[in-house]
Amino acid sequence: MTWCRQQGQRGVGWLAKARKDPKATSKPRTNLYDQDEAIEKPFDKAQFVRLLSFLRPYRQTVVYVLALMIVLAVANLSNPYLMKIAIDVHITNGNLLGLSLIGLLLLGLQFVVLYCSRQRTRLMSRLGQNILLDMRAQLFAHIQRLSFKFFDSRPAGKIMVRITNDVNQLNQLLTGGLVNLITDIISLVGITLVMFWMNWQLALFSLLVVPLLLLIATKLRRLVRETWRDVRYRNANINANLQETLSGMRVIQCFGREETNLQHFRDLNDDYKNAWMRAMRINMFFGPSVDITQVIGSVVVYWFGSQLLFAGNNITVGELVAFIGYLGRFWGPISDLSNIYNQLLIAMASAERVFEILDYPVDIDDAPDAIELGTIRGEVIFDNVTFGYNDDRMVLQNINLHAQPGQTIALVGPTGAGKSSIINLVSRFYDPQAGSIYIDGQDIRKVSLNSLRRQIGLVLQDTFIFSGTVRDNIRYGRLDATEAEIIAAAKAVNAHEFIMQLERGYDTELQERGSKLSVGQRQLISFARALLADPRILILDEATSSIDTHTEKLIQEALAVLLQGRTSFVIAHRLSTIRDADLIVVIDKGRIVEQGTHLELLGRRGVYYNLNRVQLLQGEAM
Ligand SMILES: Nc1ncnc2c1ncn2[C@@H]1O[C@H](COP(=O)(O)OP(=O)(O)OP(=O)(O)O)[C@@H](O)[C@H]1O
Ligand SMILES: [Mg+2]
Repeated sequence: MTWCRQQGQRGVGWLAKARKDPKATSKPRTNLYDQDEAIEKPFDKAQFVRLLSFLRPYRQTVVYVLALMIVLAVANLSNPYLMKIAIDVHITNGNLLGLSLIGLLLLGLQFVVLYCSRQRTRLMSRLGQNILLDMRAQLFAHIQRLSFKFFDSRPAGKIMVRITNDVNQLNQLLTGGLVNLITDIISLVGITLVMFWMNWQLALFSLLVVPLLLLIATKLRRLVRETWRDVRYRNANINANLQETLSGMRVIQCFGREETNLQHFRDLNDDYKNAWMRAMRINMFFGPSVDITQVIGSVVVYWFGSQLLFAGNNITVGELVAFIGYLGRFWGPISDLSNIYNQLLIAMASAERVFEILDYPVDIDDAPDAIELGTIRGEVIFDNVTFGYNDDRMVLQNINLHAQPGQTIALVGPTGAGKSSIINLVSRFYDPQAGSIYIDGQDIRKVSLNSLRRQIGLVLQDTFIFSGTVRDNIRYGRLDATEAEIIAAAKAVNAHEFIMQLERGYDTELQERGSKLSVGQRQLISFARALLADPRILILDEATSSIDTHTEKLIQEALAVLLQGRTSFVIAHRLSTIRDADLIVVIDKGRIVEQGTHLELLGRRGVYYNLNRVQLLQGEAM
């Protein structure tokens, strides 16, 4: 047919251009890793409250964990104070018994800390996993209900990142960040109060290093985080490049791009190495700077403390030691708090993306009063249907069609004419902007989606093979099918023979969209799948790919079996399929330009006649 030919020529032209000018082919894309999605967002109260609602089912656990953490914070606070008593009261007075008691107390405290920490870790892990599951299941369930419109505008990778990474971020905030927040505040306030209560002058001096700690916790930490993020990006680039290279290997070898690609791969790896080294350098700076600040703090406390001590002020050696102890406990909560703030901003961005999906309306859904479509005869009527994927461009205009039960309707027309769009409407993957579609006299918007789609079998151009065995793939639409039924279906569509030749017959595991099978074999499996489901209406987007004459014949025979006794819409490229159809509908630019039987249309000497003549001529030429 002419349009096939044009398509071919266009294709060849493009290839020729690409071959001449290697630079014209695009470089592997970089920074696929959620590059265009915001990493942080300002705090949003409504969203935050909504996030908290995920904790609601686990209120009891949260309260219990909080209690454990308060115990931990208090234990942490009492430790240096007990040291002070040991030194000032018991060591000074040589009271061995008192000292032993303090020792026992410290030991007991350590056991309490151990127990509480263990409990906390256990509960928090379980809580985290539960929330993760809740969020993911909610998203998954919602996504499965969304119409094609949603998937048209979003690559699968992006949706995946939301279900994995974004949900992880939210979970980290809910189970890690927020619970820590409370105990961190308790610790900080507690330490400050105790210090001022013991000696306010020394307390003031000890707090001198706090601004420095804050600076490290915010500014330096931020730098560290950014460099690691950079490392992650570069790593993602390598992954994306690898993935593209592996899936496009045939084209790469065909165009001899190996050298260029290797260079590009080297560059990406170099980038990664540099980013990693930079991150390491900054990271090595981080730990010591905290240590040095703490040492400076201790020196200040010791120096000023001994001044007070020597001047005979009311300060003891024990207090001095306790102060150092408390100072050492400042860093943990400060570091946590700055982290939580950051986590919060990141979580806000993630929450926005997750909620965007959860709030995406289920625009194709059962009407409130939807009825169940019983077993149908299979009459399909398009009544003046006008449809566009977006409201500003209609791809189908005033389509009127009448398919009698059991008829085969062949849709023909150039690429982009609107053939696939018509069949998308029958299964109600989209709703038309105007007009209606009736099945057995029922407007399909008024019946439940489930009962509608159960009656429709769909065999698409690129047959989708799921990972699993051949058997699983055939009974995909009817899980209760018996072994005999599965084999009968496979036999009916000529698939049985080649399946038996596979290494493990029906138990052969198929992976990666059925890469072990030929295109024709995949098609036969999908025919068997459709036949087994036994739908009243069959929709078939026929593959154009050239297959060997033997398989072609098998498919031809299989098709005849498949079409028998059901209403079928076939987007046909094979002349034989078209010729045998009860009704041929010629579509061009979204309109039906001719319809009738093969002989009627030939007699009319219009578009179809011309298409047919060209294809016959081509056939003769070959
Ligand atoms: N998901 C989509 N979102 C927006 N526009 C779309 C979408 N799918 C198809 N279109 C547009 O709708 C028009 C009709 O496309 P359709 O897929 O129905 O053509 P077709 O006749 O099936 O072509 P082909 O023979 O190449 O499969 C085209 O202009 C196409 O660009
Ligand atoms: Mg199509």
